[in-house]
Order: sequence, then structure tokens, then C-alpha cells
Amino acid sequence: MTTIEERPPEQQPSAAVDYRPMLLPHPGRTTPVMLEEYRQAGGYQGWEKAITMAPDAVIEEVKSSGLRGRGGAGFPAGAKWGFVPKVDGPKYMVCNADESEPGAFKDREIMEIEPHMLVEGVAIGSYAIGAQDAFIYIRGEYVTAADRLDAAIAEAEQAGLVGGNVLGSGYNLTIRVFRGAGAYICGEETALLESLEGRRPMPRSRPPFPAVEGLYRRPTVVNNVETLANVPHILRNGQEWYQTIGVPPKNTGPKIFCLSGRVNRPGNYELPLGSVTFRELIEQYGGGIPNGGAVKGVLPAGASAPILTADKLDTRLDYDSVQAAGSMLGSASLIVLDETVCIVRAAARMEEFFRHESCGKCTPCREGTAWLHEVLLRLEQGRGSSADLDLLMSLSGQISGKVLCALGDFATSPVTATVRQYRDEYLEHFRLGRCPYDSWAA
Ligand SMILES: Cc1cc2nc3c(=O)[nH]c(=O)nc-3n(C[C@H](O)[C@H](O)[C@H](O)COP(=O)(O)O)c2cc1C
Ligand code: SF4
Repeated sequence: MTTIEERPPEQQPSAAVDYRPMLLPHPGRTTPVMLEEYRQAGGYQGWEKAITMAPDAVIEEVKSSGLRGRGGAGFPAGAKWGFVPKVDGPKYMVCNADESEPGAFKDREIMEIEPHMLVEGVAIGSYAIGAQDAFIYIRGEYVTAADRLDAAIAEAEQAGLVGGNVLGSGYNLTIRVFRGAGAYICGEETALLESLEGRRPMPRSRPPFPAVEGLYRRPTVVNNVETLANVPHILRNGQEWYQTIGVPPKNTGPKIFCLSGRVNRPGNYELPLGSVTFRELIEQYGGGIPNGGAVKGVLPAGASAPILTADKLDTRLDYDSVQAAGSMLGSASLIVLDETVCIVRAAARMEEFFRHESCGKCTPCREGTAWLHEVLLRLEQGRGSSADLDLLMSLSGQISGKVLCALGDFATSPVTATVRQYRDEYLEHFRLGRCPYDSWAA
């Protein structure tokens, strides 16, 4: 293990980035920013501006900003809004506040501390796509966040910012908070819509996509909390200003990185996309690894994206760089694993999660996640063989790309990425006939 001083210059941590957070401007705060304080800081100026513009001009502004969806796939937000057909009848804006990815806790902080920022973003998005009804679908465990959103919506209604005839414009908007019952699959947008309609959350087959046939089979946009929280800033300050943050054209704006696992200072760190590397985030912001330890690997997007090995730590934290390194930035819920962590056990634990959360609609996912978990458990206990590694890869191949939603694909990455990149650690388990980490992790 090398100390920071012994590393070559390109691996030295740079000074902290000079940036003032806008999505979470009050680090450490526990009380919500309510209407008066929010307005004093410029809140709702974006909405007041948007409502004087043509809806298409609002969509253009968001398109030009380069804002990509922060819920996982990084799909351009403005383009998604632009897919909504110009038809008569109801359209819906749905905010995805299900936040169930392991290691993700950014949306929670936005909603608990900055509920009005989200309400403003929902209002602008709804207006842009022509929706008069919006839902914030929040996981049921987020009781504080849901209560604060309800309070913020009530305040905004009282002030004429949402409700009937918003700001005297003739536009009507109702925003409702819907509390889910808690399942990872409810974050998948079509399962979420099923749940919102009162059914069991099982993903729909696509096409049609929600923009065309979503809630109650009407045109619907589903956007993540953090995506919508960016929107007021874009409208207030303009897309050109927004593009100065991050790495234009495809990685613009701020991103909240949820840092957890084996770091000294876990937490939400908001920084411009691409402004720091994994190493800088872990060392400068996360305070490094406990006991001066070394990183063994990083999961960039909770359990859903392939683990990156320590030699990728100098990768920049933006969508394209992380993809080029062999993984996905996803929701940027980074879980750090250090050398005290058994990779086989970590893979088994992640698979247990997917086994439990599979909705069961597709046979390869329902049966395959259970078998992947069983085989990983056997390997972790030192009862496996090299044939099991082939079995894991073959089973993964029978799930990936053969199922209805991305959960099935996500479920294979803890397996395939660890078998490929940490093969020696798997071999060590069956060479010893036990887990080499048993002594510390009993
Ligand atoms: C299994 C699964 C779970 C998901 N969970 C979430 C979630 O908790 N929050 C979220 O915003 N998106 C989640 N997504 C992604 C959504 O389906 C959808 O792409 C997203 O809400 C779109 O918002 P965005 O374009 O603003 O990123 C999940 C996807 C899958 C397949
Ligand atoms: S892939 Fe899994 S979670 Fe997704 S619909 Fe099929 S069974 Fe359900």
C-alpha cells in the first residue's frame, strides 16, 4: 500500500473544487427551507419566468442546457419532454422519488431540505409538457421528506404558485404526493406508474413508452427528483450559464455524489460533473479510507453498475468517462470497498438484494437471481469449484437482455464484473475451502 505522498503527481489529490452548491446549498442543515427563505434566495424566479414563455420555449431551454436525467440512465431531460405528443386531453408529470438504489440518499436530502426547489421544478416541467396534474411518487419510508413536500405544496398553493390560475396566467396545476409501499422495482418508471394506478408494481413492456402512453395510458413524463431540482436554476439563470458548469456538451451541470461504504466521511457531495475523479472524491471529500487503508473497488451506482477496480480511480466522475472506464455513473451512489472487504461476499449480498427485489414477472430474472445467489453463497463458503464460475457467467448470460426491465440486467453485473475482475479472490475461496476474510468479518 502506498501513502498519498509516495504516489506519482497525476495521482495526487487536487485542491477541493471551487464551487458553490446550488441543489444542496446548506450542507449540514437539518430543517427545511420554507417559502419565505426560498424566495429570498431567488426561489420561484425560474417558474415566474417560465410561465411567461411558450411551453416549447421552456423545453428548448432545458434541451440546450444539456441536462441529463439524474435517475440512472442519463437520458436528456429536454428531449424526453419533447417526445410528449401535442394532443388534447390529460397529460401527467410524475416525479420519481422512490430512491431505493443501495447507497443512494441524494433525493432524500433535496426533498427534506429544499422541498420548494423540487416543487418549482415539477411546476416548470408540468407547464412545459402541458400537464395539469403532477405526482411525486415517494417511497413510504421517506416520511419526513413526504411531510415536508406536503407542507411546501400547501405553502405554494397559498401563494398562488400552484393550484388554480397560477400567478394569474390561467394555467391550473395540482401537485400531489403519493407515498409508495416500499419496493425497489417501484423506482422502475413503468412499475411506478402501475403502482400509482393502484396495481402491483410490475414493469410494462415497451413500446409504448410513457411519453406516449404512461399514467392512465395518457402521455406522461417521469423524471427523477434531482433532474427536476436542476430545472429552476436553468430557467432562472439561462441555459448558457448552466453549460458553464461541468463538461459541455454532454456532461453539464451539478451532480450530487452519494458517497458511502469504507470512507471516513460518507455523505452527499455536490460538484460539477467531471470536476473530480473517484480518487479526489474519496480522498478530498470523503476523508480517505478508514485506518489509512486502500481501495479495492468502487461501485459507481450502488448495486446496479459493474464494480470498477482500484486502477480506475483516476477516472473523472461524469457519464461518459465512467462509461469509458467500463461501468455507469447511474444515480452516482458510490459505494467504496476497501481491502478488508470480501468481494465474493459483497457480490452474494448484492445478489440477495436483487433476488428479493425481482418482481417475478420474467422467468429468467425470477429464477436466475435465486440461482445466482445460491451459487455465490456456496462459493463464498469455500464449497464451490471453478465450474461454478462458468455456471455464474452462463446463468448471467441467460438473464441479461432477455427480460422486461433493467433490474434483470442490473442483477448480473455484481456477478460478471467481480468474476472477471477479481477471479483470483474467487479461486482463493475454493483453494482454502473457506472465506479468507472470515477472521475479521464473522
Ligand atoms: C429497477 C429500477 C429501479 C429504478 N429506481 C429508480 C429510482 O429509485 N429513482 C429514479 O429516479 N429512477 C429509478 N430508475 C430509473 C427510472 O426507470 C427512470 O429511468 C427515471 O426515473 C427517469 O428519470 P430521469 O430521466 O430524470 O433520470 C430505476 C430503474 C430501474 C430499472
Ligand atoms: S426483469 Fe425482473 S424485475 Fe424486471 S420485470 Fe422481469 S422479473 Fe420483474
